[in-house]
Amino acid sequence: MPSLTIRNIDEALKRQLRLRAAHHGHSVEEEIRQMLRSMAAANPADGPSHSAGPTARSPSPAATSRSATATSPSSGKQVLLIIGGGIAAYKSLDLIRRLRERGFAVRCILTAAAQHFVTPFSVGALCGQRAFTDLFDPMSEFDVGHIRLARDSDIVIVAPATADLMAKMAHGLADDLASAVLLATDKPILLAPAMNRFMWEHRATRHNFAQLMADGVSVVGPNEGEMAESGEHGIGRMAEPLEIVAAMESAFARNAATGPLAGKRIIVTSGPTHEPIDPVRFIANRSSGKQGHAIAEAAAAAGADVILVSGPVHLPDPPGVKTTKIETAREMLTAVEAALPADAAIFAAAVGDWRTADTARQKIKKIAGGTPQLALVENPDVLASVARAKSKRPKLVVGFAAETEHVVENAQKKLASKGCDWIMANDVSSESGVMGGDQNAVHLVSHSGVESWPPQSKDEVARHLIARIAAALAGEK
Ligand code: CTP
Repeated sequence: MPSLTIRNIDEALKRQLRLRAAHHGHSVEEEIRQMLRSMAAANPADGPSHSAGPTARSPSPAATSRSATATSPSSGKQVLLIIGGGIAAYKSLDLIRRLRERGFAVRCILTAAAQHFVTPFSVGALCGQRAFTDLFDPMSEFDVGHIRLARDSDIVIVAPATADLMAKMAHGLADDLASAVLLATDKPILLAPAMNRFMWEHRATRHNFAQLMADGVSVVGPNEGEMAESGEHGIGRMAEPLEIVAAMESAFARNAATGPLAGKRIIVTSGPTHEPIDPVRFIANRSSGKQGHAIAEAAAAAGADVILVSGPVHLPDPPGVKTTKIETAREMLTAVEAALPADAAIFAAAVGDWRTADTARQKIKKIAGGTPQLALVENPDVLASVARAKSKRPKLVVGFAAETEHVVENAQKKLASKGCDWIMANDVSSESGVMGGDQNAVHLVSHSGVESWPPQSKDEVARHLIARIAAALAGEK
């Protein structure tokens, strides 16, 4: 889609726009974007509007921020920006602003050379969180660590990408935080090269650039124009921040179109259920939803169309995923059935096995000398209902088995009793620390055997499971 540029706006209109933007604490560009979004939200039937004129109605700041959240495709996506050491680093400050205006969360790493041009302080202030500079900083290793910096982002942007950084990437060097993260990441990488034209044209840089292209790295720029060195002109200027944002959005779109699960629809259940006893009490369990949410996020990152059906959790909705929130097992079944058909369904939720036969309409009061007797009835088994469905059964149905003893044996029994294709069995005894923790040790139990995976983070389990599902759906089952 072509970008939109509006020229020849008269001074009075410009002034009005500036005042509105200042009133809402936005840039003028963001103000116009929000006005267009609220126009589109108010007249959805119009489809994409052909009129870019400002509306006479003035939406409240609350209304504009609501519509921004509802319509922004970027909401929740995490960008890792690596700032290299070049004069173009000053443009990276504007890039941070442009990304944050669009709803991206931005983390930054500055190389040692970058800190001669911009400071961690100004970068941190614009990101809204500390900037990272040192591979051997015990605080940041304890806090996030370079492996998590590498993995927890949806994309890594290197801007400016200097000749030195590109050379390190092409040869797999990792002697500082930026290069170590670039070597450790499994996320798409977008480079915005910037350097003197002689450096850009040098045989070594040409060779490194060709290697990076062959490795699947995306590039925006460099552009032609004035160089920082007085009187020099040529190719080597870093792309403008808005060009970088546009290139990043197309890199996301490319991944959605070419990822290993592109074109596949995946349903994931996650979290606990709450089964009401009365208006203030419920039966629940200790599930945090971390594993199910990580699976939904990994499936979306692999290009799938993901529907996450989640019980009550304290986690943000994963980026790029359609999340349906439910409370009870019966609501979960209804939401899952409504989401069918799908290519695969992964049941990571800890569904309550029972609910009370009747939910009291009023709060149950204490009675002197007596305790209430709760009659329980069994909940529907969401996994078994889908796995045994006569129509619309997904090609691959994966269950989880939360066990406190005889983990593999119990999982094998569940594989048979539920009618699913795989069971991810995990030990949820209190000693394992799995319930609510970040680590998981699982066994993939299928009709062809048992595979025990080494202990790893729930994010890693999610990525491995998604890679296996992609291979199975591609026929390598
Ligand atoms: N499950 C489900 N609906 C239920 C109960 C469980 O969809 N009402 C799914 C879970 O999401 C999980 C699998 O079934 O994928 C196994 O759940 P688990 O709690 O381990 O087993 P249960 O079937 O509840 O059996 P038990 O409590 O006896 O171990």
